[in-house]
Parts: sequence; structure tokens; C-alpha cells
Amino acid sequence: SIPVPSVQEMVRNNPLEVPQRYVRSEEELEKVNHMPHLSPQIPVIDLALLSHGNTDELLKLDVACKEWGFFQIVNHGIQKELLHRMKDASAEFFKLPIEEKDKYAMPSNDIQGYGHAYVVSEEQTLDWSDILMFVTYPNRYRKLQYWPKTPEGFKEIIEAYASEIRRVGEELLSSLSVIMGMQKHVLLELQKESLQGIRVNYYPPCSTPEKVLGLSPHSDSSTITLLMQDDDVPGLEIRHEGGWVPVTPISDALVINVGDVIEIWSNGKYKSVEHRAVTNMNKTRTSYAFFVCPQEDVEVEPLDHIIDAQNPMLYQKVKYGDYLRQCMTRKMDGKAHTDVAK
Ligand code: SIN
Ligand code: FE2
Repeated sequence: SIPVPSVQEMVRNNPLEVPQRYVRSEEELEKVNHMPHLSPQIPVIDLALLSHGNTDELLKLDVACKEWGFFQIVNHGIQKELLHRMKDASAEFFKLPIEEKDKYAMPSNDIQGYGHAYVVSEEQTLDWSDILMFVTYPNRYRKLQYWPKTPEGFKEIIEAYASEIRRVGEELLSSLSVIMGMQKHVLLELQKESLQGIRVNYYPPCSTPEKVLGLSPHSDSSTITLLMQDDDVPGLEIRHEGGWVPVTPISDALVINVGDVIEIWSNGKYKSVEHRAVTNMNKTRTSYAFFVCPQEDVEVEPLDHIIDAQNPMLYQKVKYGDYLRQCMTRKMDGKAHTDVAK
């Protein structure tokens, strides 16, 4: 990707400046069609009940994946203290001077480190955000040079957080296997040795939030994504019934979304829904996306038992590594990704 300036630094130097390359066209800025307090909310699922095979909860999961592609989970069993340690340590990192953060700068040929992903041309409109990203699993894929050494103990916190969130991801994949009519272990095993990583998204305030986007509309190329967000600063919006629905944070809950891989495996029954992030005038927002993906050599295609005369195959077989590389080298642009598999 092409190097672009730190948005945080730009805002720090001149809080009123909004350079033209961040300003969106009218079309891209298409407004939310609901007032947040009036808008429908994504389903909320109790993970403990779900993992015990509770029928109502499994049914909720099925509806959530079909109709929303998104849901929040409560009762996930991750200690609140660990969630807060992850948030606090990340906040400390972003407070560091730019020279310090740049020690972890993302090189042009990688997506790990501190910087900006998906910048593929000098002309494209830029997102109002900075990111910090690294692979967490398999362990041998870790590139520890991108894991910040400040604040002290950040590495151990990331490890503990990644390990817990991976456990939650595996529980969700078990339940997804069940609602797709299979034995619990199937989806986890289909991924082979799952690739997993974290992206911390840092959205500084913007003096004219209505002109920019924190994160361009996109769908996730993952199997599933598990997102932690600030309790008090909303910003995530998802595509629903033609409009954008804001997701109201629930304290210490996680937002889960179906990624492109589940959409393909389910032959489109479950949707990898387009989403974006908006900014606001006063408050920095931070979100922490954890991606669970198949191993690169896994061939992803609609599952056999889902295809029959009434349900013809809607997606072609694609090698996951190739799919991922195609997604990474394009600018994020709506829900075009699964189209490459069609
Ligand atoms: C993402 O799509 O990775 C993050 C969205 C958000 O910041 O809520
Ligand atoms: Fe996303």
C-alpha cells in the first residue's frame, strides 16, 4: 500500500484541517436513514446459552446471520478486566509521539504494523483513521517486530486477549456448524489451521464529520469477525434494508459479523454484510477487530449438503489465499469482494 499521513497527527497539528483527499462525494456520504434512538438494533445473543445448545439462542443466531449478518454477544466469559486492559494499553500506544509509533510502521509489502491498509492509488479518497494490525495465529506467523514494546506488557495483554477471543470464535463456529446442519467441529476443521489477526482502528475526531468516513464501506473477507468497541462512542454502521443502521454499543459485549467465507460456505444463506465507520466532532473512537480466517490453501466453496436442485451453487470455488490477496490489493469498495467468487 501507499504511505499516507497519520490522521491522528494531522488532527493534533491542526484540528480544523480536513484535506480534500479525505472529503467524500455526496454519493458516498449517503445518510443514515434512521435516528439512532429510533433505529432497529442488531440481535443480542447470550453466548453461554448458545454454547449449551439452547434452541432459542440457536434460532436467534440463524435469524441474525440471515437477516442482519451482525449480532452482539453478551455472557461471552471474557473477563471485563482483560477487555479493559486491552483498551487501556492500546490507548497508551496511540498517545505515543509519532516517531515512537513509526518504529512499527507498516511496510508497503505487508499489512502488519502501524499505518493504513488498502491505500492503492494516490487518487483514492482516504479514511479518517489510523490502524495497528498484526497476525496472532498461527503463532509461527507472528512478526513480533510489529508488536509494540510500549506500553510495557502490551505484548502479554495482546496474547491474553487473542487467546480468549479465539476461544469465543471457536464456540461461535461450533454453533454456526450446528445451525448449518452439521456436527459442531466441522467449520473449525474446514478452516484447517486458522489464520487470525487483530486490527486496532483509531478514529480521531473530525471538525466536519459529515464530510468524511472513518472506514469505507466494505464486507469482511474473514470467516467471522469479533469486534470490541468503545462503550460510549458509537460509529459502526451496517447495511440493512437499503439504509445504514448504527450499532449502539453494549458495555463489554462483542459485535460479531459473518464474513465472506461463511457467505460462500452457506451459498448465500448467511450474509457478509457491508459496514462502515463514521466519525464525530468531539471524541476519539477505537475499535478492535479480530479476524478468524481459513488457512491460505483452503479451497472455499458452497458446502455440498446445501446445494441441490432448488439451491444451485452461487459461488465458485476459490483458494482462500488468492481470495485474500485480491481483497487486499483493491481499495475497499462496498461489497464487491464475494463477487470475485461468483
Ligand atoms: C471494521 O470494520 O473493521 C471496524 C468497524 C468499526 O470500527 O466499528
Ligand atoms: Fe470490517
